[in-house]
Amino acid sequence: MKFGTKVIHAGIEPDPSTGAVMTPIYQTSTYAQEAPGKHKGYEYARTQNPTRHALEKNLAALENGKFAIAFGSGMAAMDAIIRLLNPGDEVIASNDLYGGAYRQLTKVHERYGLKAHFVDMTDLKAVEKLVNKNTKLFWVETPTNPMLNIVDIKAVCGLAQKHKVLTCVDNTFASPYLQTPLDLGADIVVHSATKYLGGHSDVVLGAVVVKRKKLADDLFFIQNAVGAVPGPHDCFLVLRGIKTLHLRVKRACKNARKIAKFLKQQPQVKKVYYPGFKDHPGHEVAKAQMLDFGGMVSFSLKKDTLANATKILSNTKLFTLAESLGGVESLIGHPATMTHASIPQKERLKVGLTDSLIRLSVGVEDVQDLIEDLGKAIKKIK
Ligand SMILES: Cc1ncc(COP(=O)(O)O)c(C=O)c1O
Repeated sequence: MKFGTKVIHAGIEPDPSTGAVMTPIYQTSTYAQEAPGKHKGYEYARTQNPTRHALEKNLAALENGKFAIAFGSGMAAMDAIIRLLNPGDEVIASNDLYGGAYRQLTKVHERYGLKAHFVDMTDLKAVEKLVNKNTKLFWVETPTNPMLNIVDIKAVCGLAQKHKVLTCVDNTFASPYLQTPLDLGADIVVHSATKYLGGHSDVVLGAVVVKRKKLADDLFFIQNAVGAVPGPHDCFLVLRGIKTLHLRVKRACKNARKIAKFLKQQPQVKKVYYPGFKDHPGHEVAKAQMLDFGGMVSFSLKKDTLANATKILSNTKLFTLAESLGGVESLIGHPATMTHASIPQKERLKVGLTDSLIRLSVGVEDVQDLIEDLGKAIKKIK
């Protein structure tokens, strides 16, 4: 099946008991058994739920994987992956990554003996320098959040294979419509399905996708043993959102391209971070590993102050000031005080995450209205 067919049909059958075309929300915690151990494959809803299974099968197909394991949030999905490791193991992660991922590695897992290194993953030599016998996992985000750097997935996976290290790619920003890391050599893909997969800013959910059965078995074990499972209604919402993933992301990419060009022309703007620009350092890699350049655009101001950023953040009407991304509606955010507040300022500045950096999640509205909205807010800066 091609992608536009998979989003609608992969893993999804009319409900066997009624013929319902839409996957029903199996809102049950348990299932009747005919005799002890004699049942229809479902015993208890933490372990198995038909709505969740449909979503997991669909996600596995979208990422060209074999197994998907759903979790209550993207952070719970990450936690399950890190639980594959043992005390003393080391993770090498992008130094420009979602603040919550940084927080989980440093404030949660380091307490249990894990060591995390943060490095510019576009610099393979710098990554290799950190590899030692304890290195077990590379944690990659691409495009990165919020600087929109592009990491060469194939190259990082090649390095990982050389050192027998697992690679996990957070594919939240691209979505499987734009990029399928398992095809490029990654072992694990993780998603905050809260974003493009759900697509309507109405659900929090996470997922992990893998090809190998052993990894899947270990992750299903953690899913059940730790229990950070999503509810069936949330699974339904993500399944429904996915049906238009290709249409939404295509439109968001088109809008983002126009907005990035518009921002570049504004005298108040210092730099626009958008991998679709030919002079973006990751442009060629993005072109090779992505179908398009995504719906995210970040920009900084010439007068680099929080006060100036606030003028823009508080004066857009269509771009809503809010955390998150990937919904049909456009959002505007301030990484330094919002999504990335848990990263120390010194670390933030190293990657260019300055006080005036603004991140846009471009939605699917009419782009002329979006440009007008941004233009009016930018004019508030003298
Ligand atoms: C790239 C990325 N990964 C993971 C997460 C965490 O996902 P969730 O909020 O669903 O726990 C986020 C949330 O913003 C994110 O942007």
